[in-house]
Amino acid sequence: MYSFTDRDGTSLTLRPEATAGVVRAYLESGLVHTDPTARLWYAGPMFRRERPQRGRYRQFYQIGAEVLGRDDPLADAELLVMLNAYLAAVGARDARLELNSLGDATCRPVYRERLREFGQAHLEALCPDCHRRLERNPLRLLDCKVEGCRAVMERAPVMRDSLCEACRTHFTAVRALLDQEGVPYVLDLRLVRGLDYYCRTAFEVVAEGLGAQNAVGGGGRYDGLVAALGGPDVAGVGFALGVDRLAMIVAGDGEARPQLAAVVLPLEERAVGPALDFATRLRREGLAVGLEPPGRSLKALLRGADRQGARLAVIVGEEELKAGRVTVRDLVRREDRPLALALDSPGADLARWVRAEAGA
Ligand code: HAM
Repeated sequence: MYSFTDRDGTSLTLRPEATAGVVRAYLESGLVHTDPTARLWYAGPMFRRERPQRGRYRQFYQIGAEVLGRDDPLADAELLVMLNAYLAAVGARDARLELNSLGDATCRPVYRERLREFGQAHLEALCPDCHRRLERNPLRLLDCKVEGCRAVMERAPVMRDSLCEACRTHFTAVRALLDQEGVPYVLDLRLVRGLDYYCRTAFEVVAEGLGAQNAVGGGGRYDGLVAALGGPDVAGVGFALGVDRLAMIVAGDGEARPQLAAVVLPLEERAVGPALDFATRLRREGLAVGLEPPGRSLKALLRGADRQGARLAVIVGEEELKAGRVTVRDLVRREDRPLALALDSPGADLARWVRAEAGA
């Protein structure tokens, strides 16, 4: 938690993530009774008191999704198929899904003990932080970034060899469904998560080019969390994506910017209203349309429209107002269609024409 005393002495605590809050809302709003298998999403700022560096901020943004009340492997797989499709849709092509199973309350304590014994046996090679981890949460030994510790932990026992029958079956089913849907992933037997509520399926989305903070998203199963917050024994699974980091890996290639089908250019004050109306009708039909104010020469306006990557410029000047029709200039072929369209054409007709002409 990021807690501090505000200027007037009030104690403030800022949320570090939203999963615990979603579960609390699920309980307090009564969804646990009215919609026990709720599927929920959120987006918003989160706060962690971390040492800021590239890709790691004290205020950052997450979007996340949570499925409550489902302990079956289909819920995990469906969520990961959606995550995969989302990453592809936003252009995060190089993001990689890393997957592991962390076991449950039956098998994890056994593994934790094995890990503790391993850590004790290699105590002299571990960093002071890992000495503390050994006492509090030996699983986090697997997370240490110190080179010496990593070398030791390469040889540590892995959770997979300690999974109980139920966890093994669950994990196999999740993987089979991901394989069926062609969702690529890498098994990472040393993947543990920074938050303590996870069990069974755990995953991270990592990407190159982010430096040390290479996780774009993460999530997994948290079957004990609802009960821990005072509710019934209800399962849950979800993920959150870090929007700031996502932006770092999708920005830069310019693809996020929509291709403009047309730019509307009123040439004088009187044309401003009709031009806005014209652009609005096209936009309501789902076309990306630009609109510039009058005041510059037609030549300058056309150059600007060209620079924005538009195929067509829609000109509304003196003559066009008089005729009640617009002139359309094809910016690629460099030719005009004088008075090509009626100013008051219905949006659907305009959109059909522009789509055909602009190839939009
Ligand atoms: P998390 O792995 O702590 O998981 O955070 C998810 C993502 O938030 C990270 O992969 C990262 O992209 C972004 N993030 C975290 N801390 C920072 C930071 N200081 N600056 C910038 N970005 C950051 C969770 O928060 C879980 N609630 C996810 C979840 C949902 N598990 C189950 N359901």
